[in-house]
Amino acid sequence: MKPLNKIKVIQDIIKRIKAKIYLEIGVEKGLCFLKIKARKKFGVDPKFLIGIKDKISKYITNPWNFFNQYYQMPSDDFFKLKSNIFEQDGIDIALVDGLHTYEQSLKDVDNVLTYLNDNGFVIMHDCNPKTESVAYPANSIEHAYTLNLPGWTGAWSGDVWKTIVYLRSTRSDLSIFVLDCDDGVGIITKGKPEKMLNYSKEEIENLSYNDLEKNRSNLLNLKCPEYFEEFKKTLAQK
Ligand SMILES: C[S@@+](CC[C@H](N)C(=O)[O-])C[C@H]1O[C@@H](n2cnc3c(N)ncnc32)[C@H](O)[C@@H]1O
Repeated sequence: MKPLNKIKVIQDIIKRIKAKIYLEIGVEKGLCFLKIKARKKFGVDPKFLIGIKDKISKYITNPWNFFNQYYQMPSDDFFKLKSNIFEQDGIDIALVDGLHTYEQSLKDVDNVLTYLNDNGFVIMHDCNPKTESVAYPANSIEHAYTLNLPGWTGAWSGDVWKTIVYLRSTRSDLSIFVLDCDDGVGIITKGKPEKMLNYSKEEIENLSYNDLEKNRSNLLNLKCPEYFEEFKKTLAQK
């Protein structure tokens, strides 16, 4: 069996809750976006890298792609200029996978939450980096490339994990956990948290990779991939 990844998590949730509106922040080559089957898909990226051949072949393998809407701009501009497109039907499920900094990923989650339907989902990629170089708090992947980080292989999750810690410390209206697969797949829904953290804003700023390493399971509310099957059974079908 293939290991669990964000694409399967998203598609299984879409199927289970019959989600219609999908937003992906950070699309790049469309490896995830073009595979997802949903009625209305919105992609946001300042620099799409989807090749024309891929676009065409994915129309055939996944005809939902005919209706895709692409917004070539940073996510902040998208929410400032275009978010009225969600005013009528809201967002059922969003993947936050854009700029991998604490600050930007938190803004992206907050902006998605403004339009998220009551039974909707925010999925965050890169919440569980396994090495210090992958978790390095650079400003961007381009910045990370300039730093000659020891042992770095080019995969960069940054400090997105701090967004999980922040939301689990401040939002008593959100239920949050991270699946320990595919660099850490965070799942955020509206509802009562299983348990909260009590870190202050300043304490979170000062957390280091070493702190994550020592207390990973507690900070992230980390669940094994098998837990996802149990979780799916709890989802109300529309
Ligand atoms: C890791 S890639 C996304 C991978 C994609 N979700 C997938 O699963 O194949 C991150 C993407 O975020 C985009 N990005 C960087 N800054 C962004 C921003 N401010 N808003 C939206 N996307 C951004 C980059 O251009 C890059 O294409």
